[in-house]
Amino acid sequence: MNALLQPLEARFEAMTPAWLPAVLRVEQSAYPHPWSELNFADSLQAGYQAQLLTAGLPPQAELLGYFVAMKGVDEVHLLNIAVAPAHQRQGWARVMLDALALWARGQDAQWLWLEVRVSNLRAKAVYQSHGFQQVGTRRHYYPATASMPGGEDAIVMSLAL
Ligand SMILES: CC(C)(COP(=O)(O)OP(=O)(O)OC[C@H]1O[C@@H](n2cnc3c(N)ncnc32)[C@H](O)[C@@H]1OP(=O)(O)O)[C@@H](O)C(=O)NCCC(=O)NCCS
Repeated sequence: MNALLQPLEARFEAMTPAWLPAVLRVEQSAYPHPWSELNFADSLQAGYQAQLLTAGLPPQAELLGYFVAMKGVDEVHLLNIAVAPAHQRQGWARVMLDALALWARGQDAQWLWLEVRVSNLRAKAVYQSHGFQQVGTRRHYYPATASMPGGEDAIVMSLAL
């Protein structure tokens, strides 16, 4: 049987600094505008909820994806979610969004919130199929880059828990 077709035994574990090189490899391959190592390090330092989805056992554990979320007063704000390109379209984002919602409920949050680039139609479709609704836009939320000199607007989405 093709190894790629075998089911993966996946599990969650906390993101730690030791994982950052692997996280950055996925981040840079998944996003046109990736977070920097400092963005992740600051998130860990701040104590944000940062979870990895891995398959296999250490030291061969493979990173399937991860999310980073920040707890607010009665809401949880999803700051980053990514799935390694080789593992996309297999339902792993859905698995991570379910885990995030479960954790957020345990924090007494009423809502999940997120921003997504207007150009990120794939992520928007994933969130919509998960029940998120568009509740607004933020003009020029994403700063200008060489490829997007005018910056980019964000769509704000939320999910009632
Ligand atoms: C967005 C992302 C996290 C989705 O991860 P994924 O594991 O491929 O998503 P899933 O397989 O769990 O898909 C969940 C749903 O979205 C749909 N979907 C997934 N990819 C899609 C695509 N390219 N186009 C349309 N729908 C898509 C799936 O059909 C599924 O819906 P269904 O179960 O009703 O069929 C992944 O594409 C990614 O890492 N992108 C780069 C980083 C990024 O943009 N993150 C979001 C920032 S706001």
